[in-house]
Amino acid sequence: MNTKILRPNIDEMTGYTPGFQPPDIASWIKLNTNENPYPPSPKVKDAILEELGSSGASLRTYPSASSEKLRKVAGDLYGFDPSWIIMANGSDEALNNLIRASAAEGEEVAYIHPSYSYYATLAEIQGAKIRRFGLTDQFRIADFPGRYNGKIFFVTTPNSPLGFSFPIDYLDEIASRCDGLLVIDEAYADFSGNNALELVKRHKNVVITRTLSKSYALAGMRLGFAIARPEIISALDKIRDHYNLDRLAQAACIAALQDQTYFSEKLAQVIATRDFFSSELQKAGYEVLDSGGNFVFASPSDLNGRRVYDALYERKILVRHFTDPLLKHGLRISIGTIEEMKHTLSTLKEIG
Ligand SMILES: Cc1ncc(COP(=O)(O)O)c(C=O)c1O
Repeated sequence: MNTKILRPNIDEMTGYTPGFQPPDIASWIKLNTNENPYPPSPKVKDAILEELGSSGASLRTYPSASSEKLRKVAGDLYGFDPSWIIMANGSDEALNNLIRASAAEGEEVAYIHPSYSYYATLAEIQGAKIRRFGLTDQFRIADFPGRYNGKIFFVTTPNSPLGFSFPIDYLDEIASRCDGLLVIDEAYADFSGNNALELVKRHKNVVITRTLSKSYALAGMRLGFAIARPEIISALDKIRDHYNLDRLAQAACIAALQDQTYFSEKLAQVIATRDFFSSELQKAGYEVLDSGGNFVFASPSDLNGRRVYDALYERKILVRHFTDPLLKHGLRISIGTIEEMKHTLSTLKEIG
């Protein structure tokens, strides 16, 4: 491409590759992108239809620019004033705007490897410097300095793809060692029964990001949010697209957050299926890491993740294999329905 037209860092970067969404999606057991196997609350569909109205005329006018009612509902649910919450078009939007708000070109953005590689893509777009911290054998951050002066540090907990969570007192200490923002990406926190929300109140630099894509089964709607001090939220508010959530998404999100009975029921089902699948897979000779997410990271005894990925693929079961040297021995397998997981188990046993 003509490098005089494009910014060199954009011209040179490869860009993020999202998990594969097959066009004939219904003919697969799809366990590759940590989607929820259950539909969202039935109240979500009702709320969307009500917002749409019989003629669709509501779409004529812009939605609430600040997702006002939604922020109040989320604030009540999580125990924060709405001034501490910003809604996002998927938590990816919040992650993007956090980098844009904090790291200028050439400044440092850090994340843990392995975790969510999209942080690196966003940093590349910004032209920021990227630093990766590894993990110790006990799943603690390797070589984290006494004081870290990068502009922003992303910590995914529970970690994807490995599934472990950092203890809250450990994150508390990491927050006090960061001069810049500590972004705790809690995309999977609902499945772990634990969260770091109290750290937002305790530290000026802590931001929590959440998504409705996983635990609320709304990946197709693109809904996420960030919780932080109002100073940080105001900065993010200046950066976001001013109508970042459409009317239907706002209505869907309110309905989903308000139906906590349905939410808890489905969450419990996914967790029970995860625990069943993990223990059965271990009995079948796989090494399976403890997971606080809606997925497990599992390795076959020959440590050839690719072989098993290909064999599952041939049988229309889609899981995630990473070519990274730290991960290529295993697979990340999302938790589907109990029927899907029993079928996956027997297929894995047959593959050997
Ligand atoms: C750790 C982590 N953070 C953020 C996201 C993005 O979620 P969203 O769908 O809300 O953009 C994902 C999606 O897979 C994820 O795994």
